[in-house]
Amino acid sequence: APKRRTAYVCSECGADYAKWQGQCEACGAWNTLAEIALETAAQAKSPASRRGGWAGKVDAPKITALADVRLDAQARASTGIGEFDRVLGGGLAEGAVVLVGGDPGIGKSTLLLQALAKMAPALPGLYVTGEESLAQVAGRAQRLGLPLEGLQALAETCVERILEHAVTARPRLLVADSIQTLWTETLTAAPGSVSQVREAAARLVRYAKETGTAVFLVGHVTKEGGIAGPRVLEHMVDAVLYFEGDSGSRFRVLRAFKNRFGAVNELGVFAMSDGGLREVSNPSAIFLSGMGAPQPGSCVMVTREGTRPLLVEVQALVDASPLSNPRRVVVGLEGNRLAMLLAVLHRHGGVMVGDQDVFVNVVGGIRVQETAADLPVLLAVLSSLRDAPLAEKTIAFGEVGLSGEIRPVPNGEERLKEAATHGFKRAIVPKANAPKSGSYKGMEVVAVERLADALDVAG
Ligand code: TYD
Ligand code: MG
Repeated sequence: APKRRTAYVCSECGADYAKWQGQCEACGAWNTLAEIALETAAQAKSPASRRGGWAGKVDAPKITALADVRLDAQARASTGIGEFDRVLGGGLAEGAVVLVGGDPGIGKSTLLLQALAKMAPALPGLYVTGEESLAQVAGRAQRLGLPLEGLQALAETCVERILEHAVTARPRLLVADSIQTLWTETLTAAPGSVSQVREAAARLVRYAKETGTAVFLVGHVTKEGGIAGPRVLEHMVDAVLYFEGDSGSRFRVLRAFKNRFGAVNELGVFAMSDGGLREVSNPSAIFLSGMGAPQPGSCVMVTREGTRPLLVEVQALVDASPLSNPRRVVVGLEGNRLAMLLAVLHRHGGVMVGDQDVFVNVVGGIRVQETAADLPVLLAVLSSLRDAPLAEKTIAFGEVGLSGEIRPVPNGEERLKEAATHGFKRAIVPKANAPKSGSYKGMEVVAVERLADALDVAG
């Protein structure tokens, strides 16, 4: 057999090296290089290894007019769970490799088992468990009352043996739970190490592409928030989905972070129950804290993550800091953006928080990535600083520019509609997003052009 060559890859940035060295030259991290196996040039060129024994798909690539490419070649299968399909971009594509990441205990195994069971009649599935025993998996499936026809399971962690079984069983859908438990015989590194995770994933990706089998890889998230293992895992797969949520809340959000087959930032919303995850297809108001009278430091915004508007509550706590370098802590929003917004608040709103600790939190464990959160964040900060709640039933959205201007955001009318539908009485929004009449379906709409105007109307 031809000898395997190994290389070294940085677990931080994924840079490759022929020899081990202490520091990664690409990103400067120390002791992050881990061994990986490379195919020898001879193997890579051999037609047998290119063909993949089981697929029989040997069409040599040829130049094609794009107009002649059949679009239905990308067949989609529904997962049977509407919210899951939505995040995948309209169902699961043939041969797609999807990484599902999230904290331990968030519900990844439950979600995939439910989807696998729903899909089994159309697409026979194989659930490979490296963490739980078959009895545990079967027990859970029974507890959830899932139909088990067409569903096969395998407790195995060696990727070569998994693929041997898969070649015989020929599932159309394979779940590997979790990728961190898998290992390949070709490497001596310990299971769970960066090189093992990367190589095991690479094997499964190749299998998916050669056989058209859709593959879900389950990945645990590290404390830093990335999926354990090199970032290259994210580059190898077709889609990266994150399963998020507060441990205290029963709501869970599935978000596409990368998707070759659809839009990113699409959200799927679920509620946990004894019977497993249930879809929340009208999630609008679940991210409000649900307290009655308005509280200081709280502002409701209408965000539009993906293709649906969502009412989300932003909370701020501003408090005199004992530190010479006061703290800025953000949960659910981008940290650097807060620093920028506070600078604009000082310069263009005349409000100083330089000697205050500022904490900002988005209720419900959801993450808001769009700039429409700027204005609500500043209104919440101001409300906490003044210890005065915003007027009851008020919503806000709008981007704040560096020169203190309030800029319009996409889909303004849709956001207003959502707020009006949920009984909000007043909206503070960018001028270009406001109807000229100053009201929308009985809701007063206050148009603001400058940050200073917004601060005036807010309180
Ligand atoms: P699990 O799917 O095992 O989480 P993960 O694979 O991400 O670590 O879920 C954790 C526990 O929560 C498990 O004991 C099952 C339970 N659970 C429910 O009872 N109902 C639900 O809707 C979900 C998602 C989980
Ligand atoms: Mg699990």
